Amino acid sequence: MTVSVAVLASGRGSNFKAILDEIAAKRCDASVKVLITNNPSAPAIDIARANKIPIEIIERKDFKTRDAFDDGIKKLLDRYSVDLVVLAGYMLILKGQSLLAAYQNRIINIHPALLPAFPGVDAQRQAFDYGVKVSGVTIHLVDASLDAGPIIHQEAVDISDCKDAHEASERILKVEHKAYAKVVDSFSKGRYIVEGRRTRFLKSRG
Ligand code: GRF
Repeated sequence: MTVSVAVLASGRGSNFKAILDEIAAKRCDASVKVLITNNPSAPAIDIARANKIPIEIIERKDFKTRDAFDDGIKKLLDRYSVDLVVLAGYMLILKGQSLLAAYQNRIINIHPALLPAFPGVDAQRQAFDYGVKVSGVTIHLVDASLDAGPIIHQEAVDISDCKDAHEASERILKVEHKAYAKVVDSFSKGRYIVEGRRTRFLKSRG
């Protein structure tokens, strides 16, 4: 069944665009119902506009507490009745308990490193500066932790011959774009359950 998606992005939006491209190419059975952003000048907004996708701008400064802000996001998700929440360069940690509970195992994030190595910002630079030969991409379920939810998918990327962190980022980004759409597509065929730290894919019948 086609999966209804909300994308949350704070910046460039290349993963958002890649998912839209894979949907258009019929390799990803999803429909993006809304782009939600906390950044009114995010380039991702232009991508949504070009693709006639509704845009919701919700800024942290307009809410007294983080919980109230995340409740605001939950209300938007409910309004567009989405099955899946896709974080694509969303720069705030989702903390609201009601949001996390309502969308448990239905919020995913992409991180440009092989977690648990190099969590947080600038993961590609962290990996390059550390001198690792292999880094990669991790797609995981989101809980209240930073980049530490149960892992759905990982792909290794050889960065041993990259001359700088920028080149490593570009190489990793190409893999992100294909991998994220594939994982989104998997939600059209089933769902992930969590057993301890591990995820298991449950195919839906019919
Ligand atoms: C990507 O590298 C993603 O892994 C990380 O933030 C970056 C977002 O890039 N979470 P974009 O906005 O999708 O181009």
